[in-house]
Amino acid sequence: MLQVTGLEAAYGRARVLFGVDLTVRAGELACVLGRNGVGKTTLLNSIMGLLSPTAGTVVFDGTEVTRMRTFRRVRLGMGYVPQGHETFPQLTVWENLQVTLEAMGRRDGTAIDDALDVFPALTGLLRRRAGFLSGGQQQQLAIARALVTRPRLLILDEPTEGVQPSIVLEIAQAIEQLRGDLAVLLVEQHLDLALRLADTFTILDGGAVRHSGTAGELRTAEVERLLAV
Ligand SMILES: Nc1ncnc2c1ncn2[C@@H]1O[C@H](COP(=O)(O)OP(=O)(O)O)[C@@H](O)[C@H]1O
Ligand SMILES: [Mg+2]
Repeated sequence: MLQVTGLEAAYGRARVLFGVDLTVRAGELACVLGRNGVGKTTLLNSIMGLLSPTAGTVVFDGTEVTRMRTFRRVRLGMGYVPQGHETFPQLTVWENLQVTLEAMGRRDGTAIDDALDVFPALTGLLRRRAGFLSGGQQQQLAIARALVTRPRLLILDEPTEGVQPSIVLEIAQAIEQLRGDLAVLLVEQHLDLALRLADTFTILDGGAVRHSGTAGELRTAEVERLLAV
């Protein structure tokens, strides 16, 4: 579903990614782990075209998208929930979802209904302005908005960061409910949650892949060393 090969990225003259390879197969949940500042968000932004890689390729479902505009990637089926639960604070929950549907050029509201099925808690909040939701509710809305685009690959950057424990659980359940129907690329700091959800792991350090493999291959001691703050 997603094949990243030799990806390099930089901010000005500061190089951040060094030849990252990453594969996400259909229906699989791939988790990217690593300490703060190792380049996880830079990797996801490069995969989505929000940052132009300086080398390497990104292939989504057989189509090379390395230089494609972000909105076209979304239309192809790449959904992205950036770090820090971004929503339109002045718009209601309903309007946040509706605006996304319209941006996709669709009128059929079943995509909104399906997204709300994944986060039933939002159904009671449809008229509330997003800016008045809790951090966790905003994160649920941000994920629901990505679902409205009907992605075949959902990319999530630290969806549980700064979210209260009860909603962390709801978000984990939602990801579990979605997996299989779509592929998921997840950056997650909660190691226990990552271990529970992921089929494969990629551990980044200093902008390069230090370790990758299936959940069973993950050696705890090495992982803890690479993730220790
Ligand atoms: N917009 C930016 N401009 C310059 N440097 C940046 C920018 N965003 C991130 N960086 C730097 O790139 C490195 C990787 O950052 P990031 O991808 O956000 O890491 P992570 O998501 O793993 O915490 C860090 O050293 C960070 O300071
Ligand atoms: Mg980050």
